Amino acid sequence: MPLCFLRRRCGRRLAADPVAALQYGKTNGYPPLIGLIRQRLKEKQHITCGENELLITTGSQQGLEMFAKILVNEGDTVLVEEPAFIGSLNAFRSAGAELIGVPMTAEGMDLEALDRLLTAHPETRFVYTISTSNNPTGISMPAEKRAAFYEIIKKHRVLAAEDDPYCELRFCGEIIPPIKSMDTCGQVVYFGSFSKILAPGLRVGYVCADASIIKQLSMAKQTADLQTPALPQMMIVNYVRNNDLDDHIRLLRDCYARKCGVMLEAINRYFPAGVTHTVPDGGLFLWCDLNNGVDTNEFIRAALSRQVAFVPGYAFMVDQSVKQSSLRLNFSALPAEKIAEGVQRLGSLLNG
Ligand SMILES: Cc1ncc(COP(=O)(O)O)c(C=O)c1O
Repeated sequence: MPLCFLRRRCGRRLAADPVAALQYGKTNGYPPLIGLIRQRLKEKQHITCGENELLITTGSQQGLEMFAKILVNEGDTVLVEEPAFIGSLNAFRSAGAELIGVPMTAEGMDLEALDRLLTAHPETRFVYTISTSNNPTGISMPAEKRAAFYEIIKKHRVLAAEDDPYCELRFCGEIIPPIKSMDTCGQVVYFGSFSKILAPGLRVGYVCADASIIKQLSMAKQTADLQTPALPQMMIVNYVRNNDLDDHIRLLRDCYARKCGVMLEAINRYFPAGVTHTVPDGGLFLWCDLNNGVDTNEFIRAALSRQVAFVPGYAFMVDQSVKQSSLRLNFSALPAEKIAEGVQRLGSLLNG
């Protein structure tokens, strides 16, 4: 996080424009930030986003929660790639959604299964995907597959929620244009965030969608919190105007690529041969399967006693009651030597 800059600028912003920073603002967001995001979406993600097609949210989590709220009634079907981010699954559950998991392949969602499930469930309200560097697996859907995904949702006339906070954090290759960039029918609702590229505590995310959906989301936001606080939005605009955000993101990508490499090397060195794992192309996480029948929700206790934490696999599943031998490891937060040591400690427990 660019701490020095943000610390300095927070006070200056307040001093420069205290009314705009502290008074109620526009529900859809601070106009200069809306402009900045629209421009960036065009330049980096090839997404054309009209002025009425963007809503700033209190983190993308709020966008996901409100999207389910406006679309889902108790018992409605939502298809989600599985495994997927627990925060989204819980947001959809809280709106009353009946979740159905679409299995993942090494290249993202299994599209044959998606097509089959949409045929079997024509009542589906939307399909959820984390198209780039999925949380928890670190896997991305390649460009050709994104086009095929879009054809499927078009064929079934169903909305897709594309959750893409790791889009710019892909460290193996260029940005893959999001599914939203192909969306000529307004069927893709795109969720972005500054949490992973600047700072999660700013709580600034956004939704880019058809104007009719943004209008409903904006009404939902009015009932939730009226507006995203202006000060963090101003700080982001200020940061981008006075710094090279691309440079900062390059720094993050290099750092995460290196740490991911350290984690993979340590896994290969210390974990038993039967353990399988993903090889992330970006993001913050990788996914392991111990393949030994051990419930990782039990194994976590032993790990914590050795002061190593991970997230047990069940948390990312539709049916959380099924025991899982999978787990999610994070490589962004700790220094490289601690990552290697943590993996070594887990390895000694697994080998013991
Ligand atoms: C896939 C995914 N979506 C959404 C979020 C929530 O992000 P935000 O901090 O913007 O609310 C996260 C956070 O980890 C995430 O991994």
